[in-house]
Amino acid sequence: MHLEQKSLNAFLEAVKKLDIGFAALPQFSAIPYDETRLLEVLQATAERLQDNYPYFHPLYAGQMLKPPHPIARLAYALAMWINPNNHALDGGRATSAMEKEAVAEIAAMFGWNNFLGHLCGGGTIANLEALWVAGQLHPGKKILASAQAHYTHQRISSVLKLEFESVPVDSQARIDIDALRKRLQRGDVGTVVATMGTTATGSVDPLPEILALRDKFAFRIHADAAYGGYFTLIDNLAANAKSAFARIGEVDSIVIDPHKHGLQPYGCGCVLFHDPNVGSLYKHDSPYTYFSSAELHLGEISLECSRPGASAAALWATQKLLPLVKNGEFAQRLERGRSAALALYEKTTADDRFLTSFGPELDIVVFAPRGASVSEVSAKSRAIFAAAAERGLHLALADLPVNFFPFPATVQRDRETITCLRSVLMKPEHLDWVDRIWQILASATDASQTPKIASGSTGQY
Ligand SMILES: Cc1ncc(COP(=O)(O)O)c(C=O)c1O
Repeated sequence: MHLEQKSLNAFLEAVKKLDIGFAALPQFSAIPYDETRLLEVLQATAERLQDNYPYFHPLYAGQMLKPPHPIARLAYALAMWINPNNHALDGGRATSAMEKEAVAEIAAMFGWNNFLGHLCGGGTIANLEALWVAGQLHPGKKILASAQAHYTHQRISSVLKLEFESVPVDSQARIDIDALRKRLQRGDVGTVVATMGTTATGSVDPLPEILALRDKFAFRIHADAAYGGYFTLIDNLAANAKSAFARIGEVDSIVIDPHKHGLQPYGCGCVLFHDPNVGSLYKHDSPYTYFSSAELHLGEISLECSRPGASAAALWATQKLLPLVKNGEFAQRLERGRSAALALYEKTTADDRFLTSFGPELDIVVFAPRGASVSEVSAKSRAIFAAAAERGLHLALADLPVNFFPFPATVQRDRETITCLRSVLMKPEHLDWVDRIWQILASATDASQTPKIASGSTGQY
């Protein structure tokens, strides 16, 4: 783990600077705490935290977990000396202004200058808010999302008492446009969720085709770009993703998670609406907040009440250091993750031990060992996953439809889903570690035993 002594020194200087702003206050004595006990408890905390996978290390290449940038960690901790609440300007004047600036920079990345948006707890809450607005604008109409959309869309719809329908995907895990068209012809659809980077495989729904359908059938488009949104900035995308991100500014609402690819600590999602007039849907009378000014309080355009101003400080500082511009350092770091995914995909594709699915659209790779049946392949995937973890390489497993993989006709299709290996290569350092990751994966594959499959097994692993 990098201790970053230099950044800790910079942090202490920043705390002193912050203190200057409050120097005119009369001295007061804070209730003292027991320093020895504090040290003991902090040590105990550090010990407990050791029981984690090493998310910050390149050999953690499993789930969608990315360490915050040092500036985000430091700015967040600095804001903790104040602990502002961005619900109202009374609770977080500076951080509310920082949130408005940082969110405007994210919206500008999608070409939006006149919009409504704010930060929130994460992708789920951001999508809840977007679908809440969608439901208010199209009451009684259905929400559609692909079968590979994030599972929370269905649950959110049920919380909002909106009817939800799942649309099949094609063999690349993108919403099936023919199936969507047929469903739209039946009417009654208020909103289509376009997933701009699915959670399992990083697949990007074909937005230009969905936009063309909107011209014909007049529905709302919500882009769930919680995971994929920042890829708008990069240049090494293939044709489908490139054309989809090129037109993301034409949708009605966007969700993007700074706590996924935006280098932020957890608790930082963002929802954006193209039409700022949706703000009128949030109107409420609160007898106890909003005293201080006629200026916009973020709580007036947000479903959540209290929110950490520290998230805004961290995001603002990160975007000052690494602006959200094409060809900038932030974009280059994202490109490295995607290049790492392409490199791992090439290695698995070229190796007879593996069967690869479609190539990565963003920075997620899915692949499986070869076997005589889908059950056997699934069991082998689990064995490799465990053997790799024993060697310090942490991958993930995913259950995906069998048709995502080009199984030869000889392979027995005894399950509808295959358990395969999945790797999210979202750290820029991953590019330098692909060879090492590959070596460990190859050795784990050779070492893992082929488990015996009872004939007729349904393969529930
Ligand atoms: C596409 C997509 N949407 C929504 C979510 C939910 O986001 P969160 O976990 O921040 O609530 C995720 C999480 O992985 C996601 O990948």
